[in-house]
Amino acid sequence: MRRLIFLFMFGFVCFSPSNCFNEDENINNNIIIDAPFENFEKKFQPNWKDLDTRQLPKWYDDAKIGIFIHWGLYCVPGFRSEWFWAYWKGGDKNIVQFMNNTYPPGFTYQDFAPMFKAEFFNASEFADLFVNSGAKYVVLTSKHHEGFTLFPSKRSFGWNSVDTGPHRDLVGDLANAVRQKGLKFGVYHSLYEWYNPIYLEDKKANFTTRHYAGSKLWPDLKQLVNDYKPSVIWSDGDWEANDTYWKSTDLLAWLYNDSPVRDEVVVNDRWGIGTSCKHGDFYNCEDRYNPGKLQNHKWENALTLDLTSWGYRRNIALREVIPIERLLKEVISTVSCGGNALINIGPTKEGTIAPIFAERLLGLGNWLKINGEGIYKSSPWLSQNDTFNDNVWYTCKKQRYNYQKPTAKPTEVDIVTAIYAFFLKWPTNDEGMLVINDITKHLQKGNWQVVLLGNGEPLHWETTVTGKTKIYLPRRERVNSRHAWTLKFTPV
Ligand SMILES: *[C@@H]1O[C@H](CO)[C@@H](O)[C@H](O)[C@H]1NC(C)=O
Ligand SMILES: *[C@@H]1O[C@H](CO)[C@@H](O)[C@H](O)[C@H]1NC(C)=O
Ligand SMILES: *[C@@H]1O[C@H](CO)[C@@H](O)[C@H](O)[C@H]1NC(C)=O
Ligand SMILES: *[C@@H]1O[C@H](CO)[C@@H](O)[C@H](O)[C@H]1NC(C)=O
Ligand SMILES: *[C@@H]1O[C@H](CO)[C@@H](O)[C@H](O)[C@H]1NC(C)=O
Repeated sequence: MRRLIFLFMFGFVCFSPSNCFNEDENINNNIIIDAPFENFEKKFQPNWKDLDTRQLPKWYDDAKIGIFIHWGLYCVPGFRSEWFWAYWKGGDKNIVQFMNNTYPPGFTYQDFAPMFKAEFFNASEFADLFVNSGAKYVVLTSKHHEGFTLFPSKRSFGWNSVDTGPHRDLVGDLANAVRQKGLKFGVYHSLYEWYNPIYLEDKKANFTTRHYAGSKLWPDLKQLVNDYKPSVIWSDGDWEANDTYWKSTDLLAWLYNDSPVRDEVVVNDRWGIGTSCKHGDFYNCEDRYNPGKLQNHKWENALTLDLTSWGYRRNIALREVIPIERLLKEVISTVSCGGNALINIGPTKEGTIAPIFAERLLGLGNWLKINGEGIYKSSPWLSQNDTFNDNVWYTCKKQRYNYQKPTAKPTEVDIVTAIYAFFLKWPTNDEGMLVINDITKHLQKGNWQVVLLGNGEPLHWETTVTGKTKIYLPRRERVNSRHAWTLKFTPV
């Protein structure tokens, strides 16, 4: 989509960003902008300085919640993690023992491929579950470090899900299914491949040769982009070489200038040594990154339902699955600090999702049906967690999206239409009274209505001489939400 959409109420014409956002401009004219200004018709140079000026496509900031899927041959042994092969070759005692006990002598990792059948895989059932989890985008491992591709890579002969295993284009099937249900589709893609001989030769030459990037990496990524038009490219496996070796900036310039997804695509920050937390449309920084404070660049918390692994483990125990309360806390604190939450599951070799993962995702979805108003399309507010009650996290709704700085706090020129306060613990005092601090000085200006999402009627509240706000909650048994609750403050 490369359209600029404006709704004018005052016949005001706006040609450039500076025109629209001058401080003295009347911002009541309801400008709705649906595509980034500056990306439009811009030709990005293949260097970070220029690539970093790209504005974040709005859909990604609006979405807040995505599903991450780690699916590859590691789901066949389903033991330890998606790093199974590397740990095994590295001599990990538990894995060597497991292989000795479980598989015939001489069994290789490649022998897992025909055992990955995905015979029960129904992409539209996956998509239904994701829709019902409240997620707005899905990111699938098109290729993990093992090199096995879930699409018919033209350069991964015999080592892809169409030539062997399921004999299906899993990337294509899932892309179609999730798009049909209105979600965005993206791909995870590992730059390196542990045992690709061409990569290993470059590595042996201390990355002074770059055969792998030219003959495998680039063509594969272009095939993925041209054939599946992913809205997200989630890069990984970058840490052995720098971005010069990977030719990352050339790839990104192509992606942003000339690819079929140039206006919509977003990429993360793993493009070579030193790029993490520095470059990219959004930052992942580390796995499960959740800094607990406002970040000044769009970021994403990639976290797992299985607390110890991204790939499926057949021996997962219930205590290793994230509890719903903790999942909600991750989502709420992440969004409050300007992040998105990308929640990972690992499907089985049969092509199913473990019921406990489905149950957790539906728990999130049910919570979002009531409380999602304060999550989707929200922005960070002036305060993230409350200084008096740190179990309370804030977001707000602003009238316009800030293309220059999507995670910025509202400024003077922003019209804040609602403030949301999420609380993770129901107060234990007899009056059912929640006490918070940071909102008080805003409530003292003008008239405000306070409601608990999912329980319509306005709540009684008061501010105290010590600068606190007391909110009298309904009786807990009359409240629809469970595990976490949302107060909505609206100026009236
Ligand atoms: C695994 O089996 C091989 C022989 O098949 C043996 O040499 C090796 O010691 C065994 N390793 C373990 C950890 O049991
Ligand atoms: C996939 O699941 C949907 C919904 O349950 C069903 O209608 C459809 O027939 C299934 N497709 C296949 C190929 O089994
Ligand atoms: C790569 O670097 C190592 C350590 O600096 C060096 O010993 C080796 O000779 C280098 N190899 C090549 C092919 O340049
Ligand atoms: C990247 O790595 C290559 C090969 O090791 C080296 O020649 C080059 O100087 C490095 N570039 C930067 C910017 O560090
Ligand atoms: C929340 O706020 C308190 C103090 O107001 C602070 O110490 C804490 O680090 C914040 N973050 C989290 C994740 O609780």
